[in-house]
Amino acid sequence: MSGKIPRQFIDDLLVRVDIVDLIDSRVPLKKSGSNFTARCPFHTEKTPSFSVNRNKQIYHCFGCGVSGNAIGFLMEFNHLGFVEAIEDLAAFAGVDVPRELVESGSEFSDKKSVSHIYDVLAGVAAFYAEQLRGNIEGLQAVDYLKARGVSGELARDFLLGYAPDKWDALLTRFGQAELVEAGMLVVREDGKVYDRFRRRLMFPIRDKRNRVVGFGGRVLDDSLPKYLNSPETAVFSKSKELYGLHELLARNTKPERILVVEGYMDVIALAQFGVFNAVAALGTATSKVQIDLLFRFTSELVFCFDGDNAGRQAAWKATEAALPCLRDGRQIKIMLLPQGQDPDSLVRAEGLSGFVERIGSAQVLSDYFFENVAGSLELATVEGRSQLLAAAKPALEKVPTGFFRDMMFARLQELAATRMSLPVVEKQTRLKSKINTGKSGQSPRVSLARKVIALLLQYPHLGSVVERQGLRLEELSFAGMELLEDVLQRIALEKPENSAILLEVYRGSPQEKVVKALASLELQVPAGGEEAEFCGALQQLCKQAKEELLNRLIEKESREGLMFEEKEVLRKLLKG
Ligand code: UTP
Ligand code: MN
Repeated sequence: MSGKIPRQFIDDLLVRVDIVDLIDSRVPLKKSGSNFTARCPFHTEKTPSFSVNRNKQIYHCFGCGVSGNAIGFLMEFNHLGFVEAIEDLAAFAGVDVPRELVESGSEFSDKKSVSHIYDVLAGVAAFYAEQLRGNIEGLQAVDYLKARGVSGELARDFLLGYAPDKWDALLTRFGQAELVEAGMLVVREDGKVYDRFRRRLMFPIRDKRNRVVGFGGRVLDDSLPKYLNSPETAVFSKSKELYGLHELLARNTKPERILVVEGYMDVIALAQFGVFNAVAALGTATSKVQIDLLFRFTSELVFCFDGDNAGRQAAWKATEAALPCLRDGRQIKIMLLPQGQDPDSLVRAEGLSGFVERIGSAQVLSDYFFENVAGSLELATVEGRSQLLAAAKPALEKVPTGFFRDMMFARLQELAATRMSLPVVEKQTRLKSKINTGKSGQSPRVSLARKVIALLLQYPHLGSVVERQGLRLEELSFAGMELLEDVLQRIALEKPENSAILLEVYRGSPQEKVVKALASLELQVPAGGEEAEFCGALQQLCKQAKEELLNRLIEKESREGLMFEEKEVLRKLLKG
């Protein structure tokens, strides 16, 4: 459904769902003092430093520094977008997500709902699966699968099906308009329509959230075309989906590596041999979007291509698409198979252990890259070396800033035996990220301003204390004052019931990062003592700021004299 999700609904959801229950359902938690802890799901560790706080309704890891509310947790843990996370959180709470109606003419109104397309595709997949089992004609397809060594269990896991040899098998069961939108019918020029897939073994393509978005269909004999695929539709884009990704994630949400292969049957055959971490691009070149998607679930991709010419070209294309995705910590390997083989035939010929050994000996991207660009060049000549530079430099410039990029350039420099001016912006940005705030919990010198802001973020009801005390912060100035005022303002405006909701208010804002860090700062406030702690810190902060101002004014007075307003302020300050 389209339309904006009402802000109020999101806030209510964050109150209704207890983050402890939510996280406990994914990562079993143990009670420890006033918090709940576990080994962090976002990094590898032996002792638990991941903690969930029921009062604040936020989580935080002292080890790797991640933090956030229930929405943030789902986004991180299940690799979801914001709206997807809200939908899943609502499902956890057992409520529907309402949408605000948007005036016609605006951005949302012409984006029609696509839920009926998902519905019809799910229905069609179930129909095809039924045809595979309950139909005499489907037996041919079952025999075909058996001949290729595919078990009934696997056929079920992958929702395999059979499209009967009829022009109207779908048409007689589903609505024509929906079928057309779902790409399941061919529309002739004269307006007549018929089933796109006939007499084919059907491979439903599911997105990462287990929705059928399209199909691949294979003939059972040698006729052509061997495979037919769904056309692009409102819910299906070949360059964005990957065959087998849902099935892979259903078994393991954090695989150590993912193999990218070429064919539907490669994914299935590998699964039959117990290799469940393969996905296939959908008959097109592997795209950057697909590679980024995969890197959300793993840190290593192994591209597995035929050793023939087409396969080599595909491997190089995939590598080029991957270069902009290669942040530090992400790794790509290339595995070229012997000519005429694909993973399906190879795993059958060599068995699981042989295939796994091959994965282990796949070539790292850096070696593959230089072999490919420099392989045919004569590097002993100036011409050869300049050709190398011309080919490699633009490609490597796509690699994001980081150690990997530096090292690739260093290697290029070495190979070309030349002095190049390397991009030098990197050092500064790295230093900056080091002074990142609040990563290690209680810092020895939490400034007063930071403490006051952190307390406010963690106990938003304290905002009313400031109002009650009638403090006029705007007369003072200290580091962090702007943020403090901003937090106070947002609390006054939104009246957030807990820390999680206040964090939500900051999502996507420039202050989001620092706010998250301060919200999870460990302050060791005794239970119920937050107001006293806050008042104490706030008074001290005011006192400090006043003293600073006083000193500044006295110093200025003796140096150059004061303006009228400044004298007024000074007099007030001296009075106390
Ligand atoms: P292959 O021809 O290598 O097929 O095409 P395969 O996966 O080994 O199939 P089997 O083993 O003969 O059953 C690789 C991929 O290219 C796309 C499909 O996505 C296929 O899985 N393709 C191939 C098409 O889209 N159309 C075709 O006609 C052929
Ligand atoms: Mn094959």
